[in-house]
Amino acid sequence: MKLHPLVKEVLITAEEIEQKCLELGQAVSNYYLNEYPVQENTILCLGLLKGCIPFMAKFISYLVGVECETEYMVVSSYFGGVKSNGVPQILLDLPIPVTNRDILLVEDIIDSGKTIKIIKDYLTLKGARSVKVVTLLDKKAGREVDLIADWYGFDAPHVFLVGFGLDYNERLRNLPYVAVADTEKLKKWHWGAKK
Ligand code: IMP
Ligand code: MG
Repeated sequence: MKLHPLVKEVLITAEEIEQKCLELGQAVSNYYLNEYPVQENTILCLGLLKGCIPFMAKFISYLVGVECETEYMVVSSYFGGVKSNGVPQILLDLPIPVTNRDILLVEDIIDSGKTIKIIKDYLTLKGARSVKVVTLLDKKAGREVDLIADWYGFDAPHVFLVGFGLDYNERLRNLPYVAVADTEKLKKWHWGAKK
């Protein structure tokens, strides 16, 4: 497969992602089926747009025995660049009440932890019965708040990553793998050029 020119190194292949989604789907299903039975056997999978899309699509296809509803929120913290800046903001709120719901937050990556922490607190305040977190990637070295993912796919290094939902300025989310971005090249890249 030809690598994207803005990619330095593929960190996690499409095959590894697929396998991990299957494992996560099984682990999460087992938890809700056996350890924490939920109302009408239905959880609310709440994806944080836009990065969650590729992961969430695969992950929920591996939930077995437990039913799920899906909803999404848009929370922004990066505003373009390669570093999180400032306080995450809710740009699109939930369209349904969450009182007594068992919510599973689905994220592409946790870095500082601020985004998930704010959303977790918000959902709890709104009366959710439980809020759990599953993320494909966990950048533990970036943590600035006290937050632990209930399930995560891969430990991620403290560098800027792209692909499989992760973007640089809204681009590169479509790559089928997770990769280390070539940040030097990104700075002077002309998006118009076909390479
Ligand atoms: P946090 O609030 O610092 O945990 O930031 C989490 C959000 O930042 C994620 O949902 C991503 O959208 C974004 N993010 C964190 N690390 C990366 C990265 O390496 N590449 C692209 N986006 C990232
Ligand atoms: Mg995200």
